[in-house]
Parts: sequence; structure tokens; C-alpha cells
Amino acid sequence: MSFVEMINLSKRYGETLAVDDISLSVEEGEFFSLLGPSGCGKTTTLRMVAGFVRPDAGKIIIGDTDMTHLPPEKRGIGIVFQNYAIFPHMNVFDNIAFGLRMRKLPKREIGTRVQAALEQVNLSGYERRYQREMSGGEQQRVALARVLITEPRILLLDEPLSALDKKLREEMKYWIKELQHELKITTIYVTHDQGEALTMSDRIAVMNQAQVAQIGGPEEIYEHPTSHFVAGFIGESNLLRANVAALDGETCRLSLDGQNIEAPRCSGIELGQEVALVVRPERVLVAEEAEALGGIKLSARVIDQSFQGSIIRYRLDLAGQTLVAEVSNRSGRPMPEQDAQIPVGWDPDSTQILTD
Ligand SMILES: Nc1ncnc2c1ncn2[C@@H]1O[C@H](COP(=O)(O)OP(=O)(O)OP(=O)(O)O)[C@@H](O)[C@H]1O
Ligand SMILES: [Mg+2]
Repeated sequence: MSFVEMINLSKRYGETLAVDDISLSVEEGEFFSLLGPSGCGKTTTLRMVAGFVRPDAGKIIIGDTDMTHLPPEKRGIGIVFQNYAIFPHMNVFDNIAFGLRMRKLPKREIGTRVQAALEQVNLSGYERRYQREMSGGEQQRVALARVLITEPRILLLDEPLSALDKKLREEMKYWIKELQHELKITTIYVTHDQGEALTMSDRIAVMNQAQVAQIGGPEEIYEHPTSHFVAGFIGESNLLRANVAALDGETCRLSLDGQNIEAPRCSGIELGQEVALVVRPERVLVAEEAEALGGIKLSARVIDQSFQGSIIRYRLDLAGQTLVAEVSNRSGRPMPEQDAQIPVGWDPDSTQILTD
């Protein structure tokens, strides 16, 4: 059994089914993200784990104990909310000491533990500061220290970086990941930002419309999306409509308006069926690079191209469908011109067939 087990959880608010029969397992020490668009049920799921929301159905098991009906303070969790402003009338020391004072711990122990927590979040020396004297990132680190000092078994983070500006978000995501790794604390992280989820997580549950669309490691989710939703939500995808022309063991051949494409076979496809082929723009090779490729070779027309510094982005017409290719600006080769008919291709293993 995993460390955290969510079993068939559901939650309804009036007409809205916020969480629809979700089952997830999180391993001990794992960094697990719930990723999905606004309103898909991430916060509701997290709050059920924390104990702030009572599920209509299902169970929550933490470390072999059924916690479904226990109050939050009995669950050994620490939670940091999206806009978790720290108490403005207390300085940093008192903010962090708050949880331990509630537990009536001796003064000396509180002092030592607050210092240790401040060190953990790189804020030693900030004890006497107030909220108004700190940046957003520093405030979130105080919020984190206030939770960590209670030594939770599970850390729950609900979009903790969303109030910060882009640059700080970038820094903080690496910092949180490092801290989590150091503390080896089981973490469930809620975000709608795919970049955050891909960078930080051991595994990701992509959610859509109150359900789990796919679970997997960052690479697996990115390289092998199993639905249109996940292919579209994570990164940018080309979705090419094609028909299944032949099936052969592990592979299959697709026909795209007469041009042949080989792809890894997926279960349940049939001859003649229309499917979508997912190809990431950075996997599409053009011109000489496509020519040199042993795999798929197709012919496409350049609709336009845009120079973006480190990459060049092509929009191509492939048998009436638009194909985007992003080519690294490493080669310094002359760029194919608008309306040129050029070879394009990719490695069949970097594609995925979708049937939904
Ligand atoms: N207390 C509530 N009362 C009524 N409806 C609610 C309540 N909390 C959430 N909902 C609804 O449940 C659905 C899921 O909400 P939830 O907050 O879990 O989404 P989310 O994935 O966290 O979204 P966001 O990324 O915007 O924070 C939404 O349609 C929301 O309006
Ligand atoms: Mg939310």
C-alpha cells in the first residue's frame, strides 16, 4: 500500500461535481503534483486530504490509517495555501512559533526550533521582520517554515507560487524542489502551471473536469499523452488526422492523404479507423535533417517561418494540415523559404496515436 491512498473520492457542491471518483496513490517521500486547468477540482482534492472538506464518498488513507473522518489536526499534514498571507500583526518569529505555542511547548524548545526552521528556508536573521517588510517570496518562505516546524508527515501546497512574479516563481520552484528533496517529505503540490509540474514532480496527475486524465512521470506525460486533453494541455502538440492503413505487430502505418507514416501501435485500433497522431514541434525535422533521417519522410510546404532567436519556428502545410516545427538555431544553415516544398520527418518513437 502507498503512503497516501485516495480511494474513489467524490465531492459535490450543489449542481457542481467538483471531484468525480478520483483514486490516487502517493508514495512516501514522493513529490506528487495535481495539474489541471482552473476549476478541475485540484483544491477540493487537496482539501479532502487535509481534512477541511468532507468527501461525499470515498476514503483517505495515510500511512495505513483511515483518516477519512479525522479532523485536520489529527492527520499530520501541513498545508500552504495560494494566498496564505502570514499574520500581519506578528513578526516572523511569532508567525513561525505559532503552531508550537498552540501545542504549549517549552519556550526554549520553541526558540531552537524556530531558528532551525528559519535556516531551512534561508531566512535566518529575519525574526523581527513584519510582513510589510518582506517580498512575496520571503513571505511564502515564512509560510512554509510555519508549516515545516510542526514536522508534518505530508506537505500540501496549493499553488504556493501563483502570487509571485515570473522570475521569483522560477527561482522558488527550484528552491522548493531542493528543500523537499533534502527533507524527503511526502509532498502533494497543486498547480495549473505545466512548467512547474514538469520541473518539480516525481509524478503528475493531470486532472480535467473533476477526473484524473492521466498519471505518470513528467517525461511520460509529455512524451506519451494518452488523450487529446493531455496532449493539448501539456506543451504544444501537432495533432495530425490520419487513417490506419496497416497493422503490423508493434507498429502501424497511417495514411495521411496518401503519404505514409509509421507509428507505434496502440491498443484497440482498427484498420481504416481515423486517429490523431501527436508530434511535438521540436521533434519535427525539416530539410536536410529530415533528408538524413532513416525514418519517416514526408513532403510539406512552408507556410511561414519566424525567427525566435534560439529557435526557428516553421508553419508547414502537410497534405492540407498545419504542422508546426521548431528547429534549433544551431546549424546556421540557410532557412527554407516561404512556399518551398521541403522534406519533413521525425522518429516514429517520438509520436503517439490518440483514439479519443
Ligand atoms: N465551497 C464551494 N462551494 C461551491 N462550489 C465550489 C466550492 N469549492 C469549489 N467549488 C467548485 O468546484 C469546482 C472545483 O473547484 P476547485 O477549487 O477544486 O478547482 P481548482 O482546480 O482548484 O481550480 P483553480 O485552479 O481555479 O484553483 C469548481 O467548479 C468550483 O466552482
Ligand atoms: Mg484551486
